[in-house]
Amino acid sequence: MPRLPLRASAADPSTLDVEETWSRDQLESAQLERLQATLAHAYANVPLYRRKFDDAGVHPEDLRDLQDLAKFPFTTKEDLRSTYPFGMFAVPQERVARIHASSGTTGRPTVVGYTTGDLDRWASLVARSLRASGVRAGWKVHNAYGYGLFTGGLGAHAGAEKLGCTVIPVSGGQTERQVQLIRDFEPDAILATPTYLLTILDTMAAAGIDPRSTSLKTAVLGAEPWTEGMRQELEGRMGFDACDIYGLSEVMGPGVAGECVESKDGSHIWEDHFRPEIIDPFTETVLDDGAAGELVFTSLTKEALPIIRYRTHDLTRLLPGTARPGMRRMARITGRSDDMVIVRGVNLFPTQVEELALGIPALSPHFQLELTRPEGQRMDRLTIKVEPREGVSAADATLAAEELRNLIKTHIGSTCTVAVVEQGSLVRSSGKLKRIYDLRPRT
Ligand code: DLL
Repeated sequence: MPRLPLRASAADPSTLDVEETWSRDQLESAQLERLQATLAHAYANVPLYRRKFDDAGVHPEDLRDLQDLAKFPFTTKEDLRSTYPFGMFAVPQERVARIHASSGTTGRPTVVGYTTGDLDRWASLVARSLRASGVRAGWKVHNAYGYGLFTGGLGAHAGAEKLGCTVIPVSGGQTERQVQLIRDFEPDAILATPTYLLTILDTMAAAGIDPRSTSLKTAVLGAEPWTEGMRQELEGRMGFDACDIYGLSEVMGPGVAGECVESKDGSHIWEDHFRPEIIDPFTETVLDDGAAGELVFTSLTKEALPIIRYRTHDLTRLLPGTARPGMRRMARITGRSDDMVIVRGVNLFPTQVEELALGIPALSPHFQLELTRPEGQRMDRLTIKVEPREGVSAADATLAAEELRNLIKTHIGSTCTVAVVEQGSLVRSSGKLKRIYDLRPRT
């Protein structure tokens, strides 16, 4: 089977959306116009926005340039929850063509809606993201994102169709069947979370199938944080490119940003539809490009659910555009501020552990973090459970655990225990993988 080389070539410029070729100036003037319309639409049609703007003493007409956005109040998950289910919708229900909702690990789910126009723009942006990542019209696409209220399955599906692909709507789970379908249907691309792709690759390995011998030649992965180390792991095993796709249901779903295969340097934010900001999560002030902080989005073209300065809790940096010079990129997401583990005053994210663990040849990418507080003690304890790679001796696994513990101490500053556990003993991903287990007694 012929293989595409790693770092496949860029899309033919004539196939790009015209907006992808806009200069920064062209883009920002479109942003200003669209932002003014979005603020007016939200203020006129969503009581929560009217109240919040009034309380903050701002009116949509106060937005004269893009910097004025900072005067407007943030929107939080709590706002969506407090207006559950449809209080954030800015159009009458008859104009809402689709509803999605986040599963929400705690509390009520957040509900989002789309007009037919929104669905069309969403599909176009997912198509743009997939094309940027190397997927081409005419390809067969195995879609392993979950179908249902989660935006991953149906969002990726519509985008792949819009690009002109043949979509295989497999959804998540039943991994042996997925492997069989990959062999039988011979897809060119796979769409999945990075950890679920790992599960698929492990299942192939267990069945004696070399992923390099399959028809697959591109993977577009997202919905959870992943690292360059994980990219190298996956690409090394598959022999082809893996690119990032980012999004969140409150802002649209997958396709808010997508990575270009020719540069593989982080996802370009599709700024013709979303205005990003980075804020200090504590002071809430807007930070300059390049500074690390919380990503905030304002939608520019959404009808059913305009979203103003939505606090994503995702921690990243805004970087200048490269393969699409007019649009800024986002650095890989370090994690969500609510996924941060604080042990003895030191902050730690699972992505940091992933990067360090994958640098140690004896350790596999299968790990989880457990937080405990032994009885009678005030100090929390962090244990990292990690599986060794196949064929690693017990003595080498112990040395690797020691190495990981030391690296975490020197690079992150956290003191933890690293326990090497039996191969196959940790829970495998079927979508978004839970990495942190908080086993501390509830107070
Ligand atoms: O996960 C949408 C999506 C589906 C994106 C498929 C990409 C592919 P939610 O369930 O609302 O939506 O979760 C959104 O997932 O705030 C991030 O914390 C995380 N996330 C999504 N994409 C990435 C990514 C979908 N590429 C939340 N890298 C976001 C890191 C990501 N984190």
